[in-house]
Amino acid sequence: MRSLILISLSLLTSEGDCDLLRDSVHVTSAAARPNNELWCYRCLAEVPEDKCADLRQNNSALIHKCHNDRRVCMVKRFSYTTSTENSTTALKMWALERNCTKHCEPGCIIIGERTKLHACTSCCTTSLCNHDSGTTRRTIDILTTILSLILLTL
Ligand SMILES: *[C@@H]1O[C@H](CO)[C@@H](O)[C@H](O)[C@H]1NC(C)=O
Ligand SMILES: *[C@@H]1O[C@H](CO)[C@@H](O)[C@H](O)[C@H]1NC(C)=O
Ligand SMILES: *[C@@H]1O[C@H](CO)[C@@H](O)[C@H](O)[C@H]1NC(C)=O
Repeated sequence: MRSLILISLSLLTSEGDCDLLRDSVHVTSAAARPNNELWCYRCLAEVPEDKCADLRQNNSALIHKCHNDRRVCMVKRFSYTTSTENSTTALKMWALERNCTKHCEPGCIIIGERTKLHACTSCCTTSLCNHDSGTTRRTIDILTTILSLILLTL
């Protein structure tokens, strides 16, 4: 918990520094930022057996260099459950995308009644960090909660 708070704080302060720098120097944001050295997995899977969804196999063909302002690696997973009055099926994957992106909003959006569509996104900013299956979102939720709490008390 303590390390999460530290991480959140360092995220906050480093972002703040960037903005201050940019504002005071009056340069374009592209010029103010260092070169984009980020590499992410980039692929689209439509079945869970696809090597894009299961990155344990040789996956060097899926590695992609990010360009310009696309400085976040993300995993977006679409899956669904169907329910009858007594039961709900296990979550079935429908599609999974890995990519470099400019804006990344972590978390899940769930829509529907009988058939529930889950669209879950995870975001990370170190090279080849977007290797998860798109289902590990608990830590992100905790981080978001802590960030919100910190922002509220500022
Ligand atoms: C990754 O993002 C780029 C730019 O938005 C897009 O053109 C490309 O189709 C995406 N790749 C995959 C595998 O979704
Ligand atoms: C992985 O795949 C790449 C090409 O896709 C190939 O060049 C490389 O030798 C493979 N590595 C292993 C360990 O199989
Ligand atoms: C759901 O459960 C009820 C009571 O146990 C049963 O009468 C009904 O047939 C079940 N419905 C389905 C679709 O299995």
